[in-house]
Amino acid sequence: MLNVKILTAYPHMFPGTLQYSVIGNALKEKKWSLDIINLHDYGYDQRKSIDSEPFGGGPGMIIRPDVVEKALLSIDYQSHAVKKLIYLTPAGKILKQSNLAEFSRFNQLIILCGRFEGVDQRAIEILKFSEISIGDYVLAGGEIAAQVLVEGCIRLLPGVLGQPESLFEESFSNNLLEYPQYTRPQVWSDIHNEDHEVPKILLSGHHEKIKQWRANKSIEKTKLIRPDLLEKEKKE
Ligand code: ADE
Repeated sequence: MLNVKILTAYPHMFPGTLQYSVIGNALKEKKWSLDIINLHDYGYDQRKSIDSEPFGGGPGMIIRPDVVEKALLSIDYQSHAVKKLIYLTPAGKILKQSNLAEFSRFNQLIILCGRFEGVDQRAIEILKFSEISIGDYVLAGGEIAAQVLVEGCIRLLPGVLGQPESLFEESFSNNLLEYPQYTRPQVWSDIHNEDHEVPKILLSGHHEKIKQWRANKSIEKTKLIRPDLLEKEKKE
């Protein structure tokens, strides 16, 4: 079973979104487990402080390496679990679907959430955290990013999704965006009384043609809004 440990200065932000829907159900059904470690429990002074000013000057505060190490030692860090340590930071490698697949195969994910101006680089290097970013934008901390990463991993675990075949056709599964989907009503009259029909091919019952249409739509959509994915396909 995958065990996720979150090291954070804001433990109340968890389980957050991870308690709902398929991910929350899987947690209740013990298909994965979650432990939250409060960095302040390992603070270095009476006030349980975890950060100090950056050497060399500059704004903000930096989480200290001794605090991160103590927090890590408090969990069964030395156990034999096949584990991956991840530090969430906008200065990390961009998270991809392929990384989620890789992470979901570990026994344990230990995720450090940054706050303030970051974490002392020695803690990242010596304790062997991989630096991961969820996108080219800056959040106030790594907690939401951790929930994004964990949700993305957990839905890939066997038995978590009701219809695992949906994993094969979803966006990014073959460097393409997913084709557009339609449901009832067959003709939707909007509030301006304009009618919008679903593409006729989808009502034809002709499975081969529908498959082909969807594949074409996938490529068309990817070319239009994510041409970089097709370039990547060529290079790989
Ligand atoms: N912390 C702040 N911004 C972040 C981002 N884009 N990805 C991961 N962690 C972050």
